[in-house]
Amino acid sequence: KALSDEDFEVFRRCVQTGIDNEDSGLGCYAMQPDDYKKFGGFFNAVIRDYHGDESGKKKHVTDWDASSIGDNGVLDVRKIGFQEELSMRVRVGRNLKQYNLPGKMDQAERIDFEKTMLKAFDSLIKNKDYRGEVYSLSPDFGKGEKNPNKISDEKYQELVDAHVLFKDMDADPFLKSAGIASDWPYGRGCWQSADKQCIIWFGEEDQLRIMCMKKGYCLNEVFDRLNTMLKVVEGIEGIEFATSDDYGYVTSCPSNLGTGMRASVHVKIPNLTSDGTDKKAKEVCRPLGLSVR
Ligand code: ARG
Repeated sequence: KALSDEDFEVFRRCVQTGIDNEDSGLGCYAMQPDDYKKFGGFFNAVIRDYHGDESGKKKHVTDWDASSIGDNGVLDVRKIGFQEELSMRVRVGRNLKQYNLPGKMDQAERIDFEKTMLKAFDSLIKNKDYRGEVYSLSPDFGKGEKNPNKISDEKYQELVDAHVLFKDMDADPFLKSAGIASDWPYGRGCWQSADKQCIIWFGEEDQLRIMCMKKGYCLNEVFDRLNTMLKVVEGIEGIEFATSDDYGYVTSCPSNLGTGMRASVHVKIPNLTSDGTDKKAKEVCRPLGLSVR
């Protein structure tokens, strides 16, 4: 009742996904970076619960120093018995300060955001460590303006199959209820480096998902490469990421707040899902603090 009509409407949109989807784990997404503060009475409780902060007072500290982990920072999976190369991926979620979060963007804002990112991608393409190209799904840039990076349906499918681009977001009921999938496929696409290891998605659950992936043995290599790329991206003019004093980098979903990082590997574990479900896998992973994707 303390909220203005306008704020109440935004708050309703933040929690609509949880109302529609009873199987939600968190059941909410922020619509604007400021929502974590504005609706702090709600979000703070969700965040402290999900991230396990009983003190209710912790402040996020961004720390990318992994030199004390593993063997002086080297995390070689051969040392724990993997004989084949693993597919490794590290990503962060990021959003630009000057825009609404994806749940509240309209088509025009999605296009405007894509255009802002094109300037940043140009700077990466000019950089010899990256180069690469932009693949865009936007049918046009509005008002009869052509999208120079538009790809064909066939090319899109090829990039989805190669795990470079994301699938139609409308198929995700959580994102759909939150409005995050709206205006599909406007303002959606990615940039990929020439060596194919660095990718920046635009227009998914977060405005940006910045990632590095490759096959290999040393997990720290992917992590370090992402760290380096992030510094380059953050240094580009016009790129200012939304942050919160308490929670770190702002992401749509409260689960990703903080460094916004997820590190993952693909491992083959014979028979773990032979009953056709991921029940056993979840049982094995939970006590290890890992999640099954
Ligand atoms: N909204 C979903 C839920 O609450 C997503 C949770 C985490 N996953 C994610 N992609 N953010 O269950």
